Parts: sequence; structure tokens; C-alpha cells
Amino acid sequence: LEDVLVAPSVLSADFARLGEDLKSIETADYVHFDVMDGHFVPNLTFGPDVLRAIKATTDVPVDAHLMISNPDEMTRLYVEAGADMVSFHLEATNHAHRIVSYLRESGVRPAVAINPATPVCMLDSIIEDVDMVLVMTVNPGFGGQKFIPSSVAKVAKVRALAKEHGVSPMIEVDGGVSEQNAGQICAAGANVIVAGSAVFKKDDRGAAIRAIKDAGQL
Ligand code: DX5
Ligand code: ZN
Repeated sequence: LEDVLVAPSVLSADFARLGEDLKSIETADYVHFDVMDGHFVPNLTFGPDVLRAIKATTDVPVDAHLMISNPDEMTRLYVEAGADMVSFHLEATNHAHRIVSYLRESGVRPAVAINPATPVCMLDSIIEDVDMVLVMTVNPGFGGQKFIPSSVAKVAKVRALAKEHGVSPMIEVDGGVSEQNAGQICAAGANVIVAGSAVFKKDDRGAAIRAIKDAGQL
């Protein structure tokens, strides 16, 4: 049984009670921090100063997902704010390798994210260099959307591409994932599950995290 990691997305937390909500997910493997810039995606969230506040509040490592148009310029701010892992979108840069190298040199785990419309072959030149590939399973921008079913096959394709390259990066899925579909998604090769609503809409977050992990590990 491969270990499945769960990363609750604070996008679904109560921002007026962020400290308490962070405490409720202390058994999580990562805190998923969704940065939106109102340009790469049609929504706006939070930036490096909020990340800094989260880092001062929890010991759970932070996985920052940058849904921004200019990762070449902005990644540094999230590194300096204390991100443990950073995912930037391949669609937003022509210099993925440069960002990955910078993250690596900074002691931050590098990850690349792809949108539902982006083909897996785009990962060909970068998959050997990253710790994780983030496969968007909804069009990014909002929590609580419906999982795109063809994403299961896409995850399998990413896993196959990684094998071809002789590497085994973590594969993270993000959007519409719950204990209902985690099993088939992990069977296809994913091992990190982002869950916004599936964790924060439940009263017992620890139990919700456990249930998603168990479903993924079946
Ligand atoms: C979507 C974000 C996700 C989102 C997931 O653009 O990247 O991380 O918070 O939320 P759920 O799990 O509710 O789909
Ligand atoms: Zn995300």
C-alpha cells in the first residue's frame, strides 16, 4: 500500500477563523495554499503575507499553488514567506526549468501544475526535475467544483510518462476530490490529494482527512 497524502485547501476555510481552522487540520500532510491573481484565473485570494502568518501558526508543511500569470517574478515572494513546496503553472511561463532550479537551490520542493486543457506531453522536458506534478481536475479558480472524469486517465498518463523517464514524482490531484472518488484516482497513480470542501465542510476535519486517506489507499 502506497502512502496517500492529504492536503486540505485553506480556500475552503473560514478566513475570519483561520487560526482555528488550521488547528483542525493538524493531522494533514500539507496545507494547500491557493494563490489566485485575478488574471491567470478569474478569482482573487491571498498572497505571501497570509502565507507567512500561516507558517507562524502551524507546523504542517505548506504546499503553495500559484495560479498566477507571472511565476517568473512572483515565486521568490512565496519562497521568502516560507513555502515548503511551490507549484507553478506550466501555462504561465516559458522558463519552467529556471523556476524549478531556483526552488531547488532555495531548499523548496519544486512542483509543476497543469490545467485540464494542457496535454501531458507538456511535462516531457520537466518531469525529471520536479518532486511533484499537480494535475488540475477542475478548471482552477474556485473551490467546490465538480471533478472532471477524464482526469483519471490523465493521471495514469502522467504516471506512465514518469515511468518512461525513470522517475517517480508525487502526483497531486486538485479539484472536486473526495472520499468518493479518491480510490480510483489513486489507483490511476495519484498520491497527494487536495481537498477543500471535502475537509472543511465537515465538522470533524480529522475524520474527513482520515476517510480520504483510507479511500485513496484501498
Ligand atoms: C481550485 C483550487 C483548489 C480548490 C479545491 O482552483 O486550486 O485547490 O481549493 O477545492 P475543492 O476540493 O472544494 O474542489
Ligand atoms: Zn489548488
